[in-house]
Amino acid sequence: MPLPYSEKVLEYFKHPKNVGKIENPDAKAKEGSPACGDMVTLYLKVDEKTKRITDIKFESFGCASNIATGSIITELAKGKTLEEAKKITWNDAAKELGGLPPVKVHCSVLAVDVLRAAIEDYEERHGLIKERVKTTKEIVFKRLKHVMNPLVGLDIVKTNIVKDIEIEDGTISVMMDVPRDHQFANNIEEEVKERLEHLWDIKKVEVVFEKE
Ligand code: FES
Repeated sequence: MPLPYSEKVLEYFKHPKNVGKIENPDAKAKEGSPACGDMVTLYLKVDEKTKRITDIKFESFGCASNIATGSIITELAKGKTLEEAKKITWNDAAKELGGLPPVKVHCSVLAVDVLRAAIEDYEERHGLIKERVKTTKEIVFKRLKHVMNPLVGLDIVKTNIVKDIEIEDGTISVMMDVPRDHQFANNIEEEVKERLEHLWDIKKVEVVFEKE
């Protein structure tokens, strides 16, 4: 039975807005949905003075409602300040689209999550985070929950391939339960570093593979 998508969802799916990549973005984020393993990457260009989003694009490896909510959310966020854009909710997106089937709500949550993560990335890179919290193992684990294990489409924490984490003198060591010659070792290493390198009190991130 086809899912009861609204006309608007189908329209945005067929003619998505703001799809693509921004070269040299001021910030970017990649998020995966724990519910389905789909991935979205979002890019931002921000006016440094006014903190307004001047350009925004996304690449979705998700379903029709993710592409539709990504389109709506990027349209809503364009021209807004970062503070205004932070207030956009998945509910706003779902409403604009004339509702989403309940099993597809997580798709709009994913679109909002990636927007918020990109704003956070901008704030981290530009020293705008007001309350600086010391990086702990818990914080690192939480961030790694957004790195996918490409073999199974679930995150690397849930699939138990992160053995342990050590933080010492501004260096995070992530111990992996996969060998260096694992076919996705390089991708995982790159994503882990991307997730952790911008933490304000971290100078170095190393990913240690099995028997290294
Ligand atoms: Fe995965 Fe929609 S089913 S984003």
